[in-house]
Amino acid sequence: MNRRRRVYEGKAKILYEGPEPGTLVQHFKDDTTVLHPKKTEVIDGKGVLNNRISEYIFSQLNRMGIPTHFIRRLNMREQLIKEVEIIPLQVVVRNIAAGSLAKRLGIEEGTVLPRSIIEFYYKNDELDDPMVSEEHITAFGWAAPQEIDDIMALAIRVNDFLSGLFLGVGIQLVDFKIECGRLYEGDLMRIVLADEFSPDSARLWDSQTAEKMDKDRFRRDMGGLIEAYQEVARRLGIMNENEPTRPAGPVLVK
Ligand SMILES: Nc1ncnc2c1ncn2[C@@H]1O[C@H](COP(=O)(O)OP(=O)(O)OP(=O)(O)O)[C@@H](O)[C@H]1O
Ligand SMILES: [Mg+2]
Repeated sequence: MNRRRRVYEGKAKILYEGPEPGTLVQHFKDDTTVLHPKKTEVIDGKGVLNNRISEYIFSQLNRMGIPTHFIRRLNMREQLIKEVEIIPLQVVVRNIAAGSLAKRLGIEEGTVLPRSIIEFYYKNDELDDPMVSEEHITAFGWAAPQEIDDIMALAIRVNDFLSGLFLGVGIQLVDFKIECGRLYEGDLMRIVLADEFSPDSARLWDSQTAEKMDKDRFRRDMGGLIEAYQEVARRLGIMNENEPTRPAGPVLVK
């Protein structure tokens, strides 16, 4: 295999230089990390599932005319993407109270919010991604006011479309995190959806049973993470049941 230049290695993914200028290869690892409580574990096959789920979601968004960085999937763990200038914000959209919102504001988890709520967090590992307001974002120059408007409009479109898409397969889109970037095309610049959309970065609950089908299973030591991600993929109709997500071989029974 020819050597590629590694541009960045994060907690869950690696970015390599792409085959053409302006492209990158996004590689999904099995590493699973949460901030609260702080812990990491390698969960076999998670990267393969996230690559497929994110491919599916981004392809659907592209088809809807919602701009994303996604070009195409390359193999089990990798996809070709357009390189963007990442805006250092995590944009969270919430439909139902859960996680930090439920805790901070004393709202019972599962309460349907009066309307969808958008929150911003500053992407900074040393600071554990603190929550920030639009005032902070513009004062520190992380994004311009017009860009914040574009990001919010994008986030709402993604939320509306994906809420319907997941509801159609019996899943409630409780909340999710996205990252946006600036894509330069000639003299033009536009804000596009970057990074990933997977059960690592969204809360997905079964519509009937409210069973968790996302990274909260790891966060809360519930087990069954891979099975839950597989079920999300299966419901979306994207996983070939026979395709192995783990290397073939003996399986350790715990
Ligand atoms: N199209 C893109 N162009 C450039 N960078 C991207 C693009 N899409 C995602 N990224 C960046 O690639 C990295 C993906 O790696 P990963 O998700 O593992 O990072 P992380 O450990 O979560 O750290 P970070 O706090 O930087 O997100 C992120 O930093 C993300 O912002
Ligand atoms: Mg990340």
